Amino acid sequence: MAVDGPSGSGKTSTSRGVARALGLRYLDTGAMYRALTWWFIAQGAAGTGVGEEAAGLDEERIAARVAEPRIEVSTDPDDPWTRVDGRDVSDDIRTSEVTARVSSVARVPAVRERLIGMQREIIADAEPGIVAEGRDIGTVVAPSAQLKVFLTAASEARARRRAAERGDAVDDTEADQARRDRLDAAQSAKAGDAVLIDATDLTLEQVVGEIAGLARRRSSLACTGDAAN
Ligand code: DC
Repeated sequence: MAVDGPSGSGKTSTSRGVARALGLRYLDTGAMYRALTWWFIAQGAAGTGVGEEAAGLDEERIAARVAEPRIEVSTDPDDPWTRVDGRDVSDDIRTSEVTARVSSVARVPAVRERLIGMQREIIADAEPGIVAEGRDIGTVVAPSAQLKVFLTAASEARARRRAAERGDAVDDTEADQARRDRLDAAQSAKAGDAVLIDATDLTLEQVVGEIAGLARRRSSLACTGDAAN
């Protein structure tokens, strides 16, 4: 199952909730882009050009080193850790520094090529199926997913959710979110056959219930081992 949508739409809580409800695995593809960004920052941002859009992002240097770090993610919806070269970076990848720079790394073609390849392997190996969340799951990573959901919410509602999670001001969060939406736009299209769910006025339980219901109605979703279900 593919769950795509912009930041703050509630994709993560929703996808984990749906995976738990249906007994599926869970994949946070954003965490993989964040992990690679964290590693580039740890290598010394000045040397990589990461986050230096104004001065011209050095895509070549990022592309040249993209295969170096070993990135591992858990697919347990109850314990979704992320590791880089064996180190648990689950908290480190959520810092504002990583958040500010991840779009610049995620748009480098060699980055997408490597991570999309990994994501497809994880999805293919998942038993009995997996809920994968991101931006391009329904369009690029798993276009044959049995169910595709595009989760969105009004900009202010998304910012309020994110600000509450982080203890930041709603205005700042909304401005930052608009900037990231623009930078992520190229890989954030809704698949033509994705079900659009607007979570603005829905609780998490309602969204999870709606998606789990859709999934159950789509034949035997929860018990197939298909690559992209
Ligand atoms: O969902 P998130 O905020 O953790 O995603 C982090 C960044 O990674 C975000 O800027 C968009 C990018 N991303 C992407 O380009 N493709 C994905 N499948 C998932 C995330």
